[in-house]
Amino acid sequence: MIIEPRTRGFICLTSHPVGCEQNVLSQIDYIKSNPTTNGPKKVLVIGASTGFGLASRITSAYGSNASTIGVFFEKPPTEGRPASPGWYNSAAFETQAHKDGLYAKSINGDAFSNEIKAQTLKLIQDDLGKIDMVIYSLASPVRTHPDTGERFKSVLKPIGETFTNNTVDFHTGVVKEISIEPCSGDDIENTIAVMGGEDWQMWIDLLKSADVLSEDFKTVAYSYIGPSLTEAVYRKGTIGRAKDHLEATAFEITDSLKDINGKGYVSVNKALVTQASSAIPVIPLYISLLYKVMKEEGIHEGCIEQIERLFNERLYAEDLQLDAQGRIRVDDWEMRDDIQAKVLELWKEATTETLPEIGDLEGYRTDFFNLFGFNVEGVDYDKDVNEMVAIPGLQ
Ligand code: NAD
Ligand code: NA
Repeated sequence: MIIEPRTRGFICLTSHPVGCEQNVLSQIDYIKSNPTTNGPKKVLVIGASTGFGLASRITSAYGSNASTIGVFFEKPPTEGRPASPGWYNSAAFETQAHKDGLYAKSINGDAFSNEIKAQTLKLIQDDLGKIDMVIYSLASPVRTHPDTGERFKSVLKPIGETFTNNTVDFHTGVVKEISIEPCSGDDIENTIAVMGGEDWQMWIDLLKSADVLSEDFKTVAYSYIGPSLTEAVYRKGTIGRAKDHLEATAFEITDSLKDINGKGYVSVNKALVTQASSAIPVIPLYISLLYKVMKEEGIHEGCIEQIERLFNERLYAEDLQLDAQGRIRVDDWEMRDDIQAKVLELWKEATTETLPEIGDLEGYRTDFFNLFGFNVEGVDYDKDVNEMVAIPGLQ
């Protein structure tokens, strides 16, 4: 079939298998030329199909020949209906990994559930024995608690006061003011239940009790801080409370792994266009200005460059360069004083009229469509493609 992008608000309903494949192959090439010395060998990636998790899987597999198991929640294709992009990404990754003689298997289902955890554990026991790294990279709006069955929904709201600032609709380029009402009721607790550290801890507890974690095991989850501009809605909002909880969980995990010298870390990553971040008000305007400034300075990175730097210059380097709160920082270039000062200046000038000049709206849009395999260089979108692509290592 011929597949075209079909957008509704901040989501794209279709995705292109060849474009997704091309994105994965480019990431593989990048890591092949930037391998990791003494990198991981047997890796579980939870949230492995898109964004930072996919980049982590590729960096493990192609940076240090790691065997990888990927867990994700993606929609398979049906006749005439494309799969979700993470499906095609995983298909491309596992096809290439198998060609290259790398072990790569995956499990598609709800990582929050006891069933998927048990199935993953069995696969590790059957195929890998012990693993030396777990990457935790879930981004989800909902979680059903595995023990109580209670369904939690996360919200992206300020705490205490209404937040008013500018945002951009990146499809139309219109900049306008929006107001977000403060959270209420159980919003904070619910957001912590979805995006906090409880599920990460459950995974590690299960794997530890089954004795499948090797000596010097590491686990890493991803967090975000961002500038004062977005603070009220992000880091000091409901999602920020969940990130506080996730960061605190890293220390609890380290405590629970003392006997095998295991470590839990959080890495604070830079702001990037992903399905999750496009839905957060104010962030798209911030990102389009940030991209402009970072590209001008020659320090722009995508997911793969971020994770390559995380592995090669932090996790598997001499010095983790932890901050005062014990976190790894690969948002260091985003947060540089000169970069933030420039973004703040531009922010004051940003209007519908000025943004195409002073911001990188084009870069934002390109990245957004790239997430779904569209607007990818070298792909012929007029050519018929088979939507019924299989993931070769899917269990
Ligand atoms: P993403 O949407 O690209 O990836 C989410 C992954 O989680 C996908 O593989 C998806 O299949 C999987 N997933 C979602 N729900 C699941 C479920 N119930 N069971 C199994 N798998 C499920 O997101 P991302 O932007 O790569 O975010 C990953 C992490 O990085 C998040 O913690 C996010 O807060 C953090 N982070 C993101 C940014 C950013 O700007 N995008 C910046 C810093 C940190
Ligand atoms: Na991810």
